[in-house]
Amino acid sequence: MKILNVQSSASMECSLTRKLSASFLHILKTRFERVEIMELDLVKCPPPFITPDWIAGAFSKAELTEQQQMALNRSDEYIRQIEAADLIIIGTPMYNYGMPAVLKAWFDQIARINKTFSFDLSRGDFPIEPVLHGKKLVLFTSSGEFDFQKGGEREAFDHLVPHIKSCAHYLGVINENDLYHIGIEYQEFKDKRHESSKNEAFARITTLVDEICLY
Ligand SMILES: Cc1cc2nc3c(=O)[nH]c(=O)nc-3n(C[C@H](O)[C@H](O)[C@H](O)COP(=O)(O)O)c2cc1C
Repeated sequence: MKILNVQSSASMECSLTRKLSASFLHILKTRFERVEIMELDLVKCPPPFITPDWIAGAFSKAELTEQQQMALNRSDEYIRQIEAADLIIIGTPMYNYGMPAVLKAWFDQIARINKTFSFDLSRGDFPIEPVLHGKKLVLFTSSGEFDFQKGGEREAFDHLVPHIKSCAHYLGVINENDLYHIGIEYQEFKDKRHESSKNEAFARITTLVDEICLY
């Protein structure tokens, strides 16, 4: 099993999403003999933002200029990593109600016409179709506040999980059942609710690993 481990918390050693991801990988390695992990730390090595050369190159039908190719190099590398992976892990904090800028920059780099999606107006109102298929995504989140879930008091503020769900098809995660999410809440309150949210999240990891192994 090949795993791409994408991390985006700037808190490094103290990060809950990094701890959740590490615990998941640790348990997974005890269940699977052959686990190959590709590490992608977006904080240690931030993705570049897309540029005019990037856009011109991505949509070009001619041979790319040197500048266009250079602008697309990192995107090509990220897409190769996704293609090679069976399972993608994303560890992401909630920053200002959405994903960290480095993670958004990574999504911008990997959404590429004819590489991760195709576009055809003959398909009518939904011209976009994914190119990659059959991947699984495990999403570990953490937030300072709480109640962002469906029907929760802060549902309208959650631009993190719904955003990633909308972009998951670029990763080849097509089936909703192939996206697993474990989140911790209340981090800023540092109270009993946070402790139990944290304990529940770590406890759910073992079940999640079993679920993925059974599949
Ligand atoms: C720059 C920054 C912005 C944040 N914005 C939010 C926010 O909008 N909503 C929220 O609930 N928590 C917010 N938080 C709290 C984090 O989501 C929380 O600390 C979480 O545990 C971070 O994940 P990590 O432990 O993996 O770093 C923010 C934290 C930081 C550092």
